[in-house]
Amino acid sequence: MRKNYEKQIRELREKMTLEEKIGQLQQCGPSLVGAFEVSFEELLDMMFDGRISQEEFDKLMGTAEQDYREEELRAGKIGSYNGIGDAATVNRLQKIAVEETRLGIPLLFGYDVIHGFRTVTPIPLAESCAWDPVLWEKTARVAAEEATAGGVHLTFAPMVDVAKDARWGRISEGAGEDVLLNSAYGASKVKGFQGEDLAKEDSMAACLKHFAAYGAIEAGRDYNRVDMSMQRLWEEYLPPYKACVDAGARAVMPAFNDINGVPCTVNARLLRDILRKKWGFDGLVISDSNAIAECVSHGIAEDKKDASRQAILAGTDMDMSSDSYIEHLKELIESGEVAESVLDEAVDDVLRLKFELGLFEQPYQTDEARERRTMLKPEYRALALEAAEKSIVLLKNENHTLPLKPETRVGLFGTLAADKGQMTGAWAIGADPEDCVSIAEALEAKGISYQYSADGADLEKIASESDVLIAVVGESKEESGEAASRAGITLHPEHLALVRKLNATGKPVVAVLFNGRPLAIPELDQTASAIVEAWHLGAEAGPAVRNVLFGDVNPSGRLTTTFPAAAGQCPMYYAHMNTGRPGGKSKFTSKYLDAPVEPLYSFGYGLSYTAYAYEELKIEKAENGLRVRVTVRNTGDRSGEETVQCYVQVPCAGRVRPVRELKAFTKITLEPGEAGQAALEIAYDSLGYYDREMNWTPYEGKLKVYVGGNVKDTIVEEIHLL
Ligand code: GLC
Repeated sequence: MRKNYEKQIRELREKMTLEEKIGQLQQCGPSLVGAFEVSFEELLDMMFDGRISQEEFDKLMGTAEQDYREEELRAGKIGSYNGIGDAATVNRLQKIAVEETRLGIPLLFGYDVIHGFRTVTPIPLAESCAWDPVLWEKTARVAAEEATAGGVHLTFAPMVDVAKDARWGRISEGAGEDVLLNSAYGASKVKGFQGEDLAKEDSMAACLKHFAAYGAIEAGRDYNRVDMSMQRLWEEYLPPYKACVDAGARAVMPAFNDINGVPCTVNARLLRDILRKKWGFDGLVISDSNAIAECVSHGIAEDKKDASRQAILAGTDMDMSSDSYIEHLKELIESGEVAESVLDEAVDDVLRLKFELGLFEQPYQTDEARERRTMLKPEYRALALEAAEKSIVLLKNENHTLPLKPETRVGLFGTLAADKGQMTGAWAIGADPEDCVSIAEALEAKGISYQYSADGADLEKIASESDVLIAVVGESKEESGEAASRAGITLHPEHLALVRKLNATGKPVVAVLFNGRPLAIPELDQTASAIVEAWHLGAEAGPAVRNVLFGDVNPSGRLTTTFPAAAGQCPMYYAHMNTGRPGGKSKFTSKYLDAPVEPLYSFGYGLSYTAYAYEELKIEKAENGLRVRVTVRNTGDRSGEETVQCYVQVPCAGRVRPVRELKAFTKITLEPGEAGQAALEIAYDSLGYYDREMNWTPYEGKLKVYVGGNVKDTIVEEIHLL
């Protein structure tokens, strides 16, 4: 139960000057100016308009001094910082705020702790393939213990943007294409980050993002427009954010994109009507980086002053890194364009979070030794290994190529096999690549006989002396995450060329994929003997891949995004509509002339070193929902963990409905030959849709219930609702 600080908040705010109030809404990133003749902003413009190259920009950045704008801090003009993750700097700045400003209001320190802080765990898209809310919460808890030891109070996570377009680089940062999975993932992360008590030293506030529907950007191109019906927004994109609010998230970050022409940062319908009034959220809304100022580029604001006016009125409390509020709010309040009561609401939201975090009682990281003894604990690494193993998806395994025998002689190829820096994936800004273990190191550590060639040199010789050839191919960590959309999502030519050369030797080729998005790999699917989807798995990537390759671990990951056969199929997702002419053999049906209508690998897909059969599906009507029972049998010779997935289809409704909707999932571990019963519940209030007038309408009549190990291979029963 959250404590009520409203009296303390009001009493404090009533002491504040107008400038001090506005200062609380200012969040600074540690700007990198101080070492240039030109300002950081000017330097950015020079890069964006091509006057300097990205390489020159990066070089200049590398030489910059960190400028924390201490004089503005002393004057009470800064309320928060973004991107500082060491206790000493946090304490130094906090001391200025608490001891040298007039009211001594402590600072709030935010940081992007997306998938681990120092002990990097798999990227969210990878970890979502574990279908394991308990695991998701545990890794978030570890991230909080490390990050708070580094001085962090708030993480800009979880990201729960439903993403159905593999071209979008930020598909790597969430739980894939499904609304139920993103909801479960987000709620688990909020609980893990925030713990039982936000004021505890190892708890940090969660900031759900990006509100809303950022994953629906047109053409998969980052920062692009979002335009959709209200029905689709409410059915397919909003639920995960609501799940995070219901789980107690204390902050929200509006998305860069517009929705139907209104940028989220200035979208009162979104931030006030839905988030606050309808969902009852009373936490802090922090803009995305520079997003208030960018409303001018969007074409919704005349200038930064107009953008500031619209943003504060719409409900964006804090300005991240655009200096809009600090430059214009005073004038807007004094002119009466913005009532001071609106400013007060935003200030109260900031103060409330600072009280809830216990910062007024204890603003400092008192035990700086905690930072040293907390990072990279052995138990954290063990959990990172477990998460990495459970995130791996076995996509192909012809003639039981895998698992390999311990004495197998391995030819290992590809730079990604030894490049520790690439293990972390996108948004691991606090990580040190040296803390990651590569595949090559993991093979070495177990004394496995292998020869390594980064670029394919000595390929024939190595192949002649090897039983199996492993090609580690895919994407660098820079090819996914923010500002990393790709129009083509196939393997890079040099990777494909390597695989072709390896195939030409006649030895079995195992492809290990390091990537941050679904890739279109039809040729690999045809030619490799086995394909292991290893994403970007973090600190224990190498040992996890080794453990799966050699059978210490039976792979159990299941895809949470559809893998298209070609980029031209994007956006591609399982919960699609049937259309009046479902794609088929005859000409006049919904398909492509030059690509299949089916994906390469479907949602929920993944192989195991054993196999499962589904029998005896039973559906019963219970008080609050449908009770689903199914028998799952392990028909192979190894124990394994199966993810039982339950989908529905309503064949006829007042608006067309998807051919499948995931409504429940559970996991079951079975010994060889063992049969077990899996039990799932489908809540009645999840069985419905928004009708043409946007009224929530429960499903009626015939309902098909599909259960299986992926969205395609299922058994089905029908039931009649109401
Ligand atoms: C970035 C991202 C957001 C991140 C923020 C702070 O632009 O859009 O996800 O949390 O800036 O670094």
